[in-house]
Parts: sequence; C-alpha cells; structure tokens
Amino acid sequence: MSVTQRKVPAHVPDSLRDELWSPGFEDNPYPTYSRLRDDAPVHRVPAPLGMDIWLVTRYEDVRQAFNDPRLSRDLRKVPEIMRALKLDDIRGAISGLNMLATDPPDHTRLRGPVAKAFTRRRVELLRPRVQEITDELLDRIPGGEEVDFIGDFAFLLPVTVICELLGVPVEHRDDFRAWSTEVTAPTLTEEGAQRARAGSARLHDYFRDLVGERRPAVDLSIPPGSQPDLVSALIAASCQEERLSLDELVGTLTLLLVAGHETTVNLIGNGLLAFIRHPGQLALLRRRPELMPNAVEEILRYDAPVERSTPRYALEDVEIGGLTIPKGSFVFLVIGSTGRDAGQFAEADDFDITREDNQHIAFGHGVHYCLGAPLARMEGEVAFETLLRRFAKIELARPDEPLALRRGAGGLIRGIVSLPVR
Ligand code: HEM
Repeated sequence: MSVTQRKVPAHVPDSLRDELWSPGFEDNPYPTYSRLRDDAPVHRVPAPLGMDIWLVTRYEDVRQAFNDPRLSRDLRKVPEIMRALKLDDIRGAISGLNMLATDPPDHTRLRGPVAKAFTRRRVELLRPRVQEITDELLDRIPGGEEVDFIGDFAFLLPVTVICELLGVPVEHRDDFRAWSTEVTAPTLTEEGAQRARAGSARLHDYFRDLVGERRPAVDLSIPPGSQPDLVSALIAASCQEERLSLDELVGTLTLLLVAGHETTVNLIGNGLLAFIRHPGQLALLRRRPELMPNAVEEILRYDAPVERSTPRYALEDVEIGGLTIPKGSFVFLVIGSTGRDAGQFAEADDFDITREDNQHIAFGHGVHYCLGAPLARMEGEVAFETLLRRFAKIELARPDEPLALRRGAGGLIRGIVSLPVR
C-alpha cells in the first residue's frame, strides 16, 4: 500500500497521547511511531510554554514538508512564536543567526561560504588525518578492560575532527562538550530553554572572542577558499566580500561546532549498539568489509542520530496528509519514524546492512540537507573499519544494566549517554 493511500483517522486515542511521553517511549520510540504513522500521522501535542506542536511521522509527508517553503526556519517571520519563547532578538535564539535558522535567500548567502569546505572531494582529503586521530584514540583503549565507548571514543573522534577543521584549540573540547550539551538540552520547558540559551551564549562569547583575536592575523589578500582553516576562511569572507556580518559569523561557527559532533557521536554510538544487538550483521561485515558504506547508511536509517528535524514554523495554514496545520504552529518532522516506515522500506524494523536502495532521510532533505553529510559518513566508515580491524570482539561490559539514553532539544537528538563495553 502506498503511503498516500493510507487512511488518516480523525480521532487520536488517549492511550497514544500518554504513550508519547512515557519512559518506555524514551527507551524505544519505534512502536509508538509505528502507531502514529498508522493512526495519527500528523499529530498535535499540547506542549509547555503554551504552544502547539505538530509531529509529522510518515516518510512521504516528511519529505514533502522538508521542501515546503510555507514551513519556515526563520523565527523572525513569526513574532507570535518569538513572544512565546520570550525572545526580543533573534541573536538570543538558541542557534543564533546561521544557515539553519534562515530561509532562502539569507540561507543561500550563509551556506555558500561554508559549503565549499564540505564537498565530498574536500572531505576525502581529510580521510588520512581522520584515520590518524582514530588510531591515536584507540591506542589509548586497553584490550579486555571496561571502557565507556561514548566518552572515550565516539565523542572524541568527531569533536577533534571538527576542532581541527575549524581551527579552534582542541584542548577546549571539554568546554565545548559541556556547552553544546546545554545547547541541545530539551527546550520545551522554561528551565530547558534557559539552559539551552545559557550554553548558546557561552559558545557565542567564545567564538566572538576567537574571531576578535584571529582577525588581525588573517591574510586578507588570499581568497577565503585558500585560507588554512574555516575560522580564517569565514573571517575572510566576512571582511572581503561582506557576505556575512559578525553575528552571522559567530552563529555559523557555533552551528558548525555543535552540529559537527553532537550528531556524529550518536552515529558511532547507535551504530555500535545496533551491531552488538545484531551479532550476525557484525559477523557479516567482518566477512564482507566492502559493505561498510552500506552499513553506515543502514545505521542512519535504523536509529537516526537526529531523531526530529529542527522545528519548522507554519507561515500560513498548511495541509499535510489530509490535516490542516494552523498558521503559527511549531512543526517537527520526525526523521526517526520515517526510517521505519513500511510504506518506504521493506522489513523496516530489521537491521540489514545489505539493504539496497536505502533512501533514508537521516540527513534531512531540501535546502537544509545536512552540510556535513560527507564528513559524517567518512568518519563513520573510518571508525567502524578501524574498530573491526583492531578488536576481534566487542561486547557490553554490563549487559544486564539498562542503557541511559540521551535526548536533546525536545527530542531532536537520540543517542546514548555512556556505553560501557569491553
Ligand atoms: C543539517 C543530520 C553531521 C553540519 C542537518 C540536518 C539533519 C542533519 C537532519 C537538517 C536539519 C533540519 O532540516 O531541521 C546530521 C546527522 C549527522 C550530521 C545525522 C551525523 C551522523 C554533521 C556534521 C556537520 C553537520 C559532521 C559538520 C559540521 C550541519 C549543518 C546543517 C546540518 C551546517 C545545516 C544545513 C543548512 O541549514 O543548510 N544535519 N548531521 N552535520 N548539518 Fe548535519
């Protein structure tokens, strides 16, 4: 049955509403998403701060919504939401001013100078360095002893890579981790929103100071694309071509730092957990290493690190899947649900690294399609190739203990806080 032919029931059972916020949902949201796709594919949930949130869960609806210009990313266009969030100025918003917080044409202007650094070709040049960092990190992991796979490896790899790429001191990575954990804290409560704003303000202050310090040393006779690192390239783009203001420069660096590691840590963590729970697939990958790129795509589909899109704001009434979402609503596109949509993927709940034609939307879709997708894929491949080569066996150190899952930004991120393995 095609997705669009499915029925759209008018009434949502109360049990489903309760299920959405239950502890079981935090551990494993997929059965609830399956019910939502069947019974309430466009679903309104009352939220704190007096706003309504709509969840869109079917693959085809989400894909279309990603391309709908009436669903904006720009808070400046929805003063009623700015007021509800108690924001007077967009610079105080969690993500600040950057490509992900704007619509075209601002979006196009802000993405352009950064995009050049993230093409597949440019990213491939980084592979040997990513391999070196991976080896150095794994050298420190003793065989046979319990380690926290997340804190001791999955976090350190992407944060080191993004720091080097940006040209910011890697010694500050513990601060970055603390601040970006705050930034991605669930924001739908007053307290969560305050924490997120505090983390964001710290990152903004950090980058504002860094730009001030670095600006005099940047050689402005060299074009942005030839600068030694991204901070210098963006300073050059800002000074030479006036392509971005200081606030936009700071907002862009903040976005890159947070997006560059809060996500990939969960690709690596969720991936290892999927392999531990599906030893047959791990054995298959050891036998057929050429399946690695496919395996990374399957991890992204099966347990999407970015579980929900960043919110969209309805600039007018928008009909999705036969229901009208009123103007001024918050809309979340539930990426994690789309990966399990049987209307798109055969045997959608199976983890199968030989899956063909895997058109997942774990990196989003449309103009905001993830800028770092080539980098994330490459880091994932290097991480798993190296792990398999260096460790004959990887197992949970405490198999009977429940794992602590991490969700951030109102459910945006889905990952594991710590994964004790041996
Ligand atoms: C955007 C996922 C890694 C930078 C996005 C979006 C998703 C996503 C779903 C779209 C959000 C939306 O439309 O609401 C992921 C996943 C990653 C990952 C699953 C890892 C497995 C990275 C990395 C970087 C990065 C390594 C590098 C810096 C960005 C940027 C945007 C973005 C800058 C905004 C693009 C725009 O607005 O045009 N990512 N991401 N991401 N991602 Fe990633």
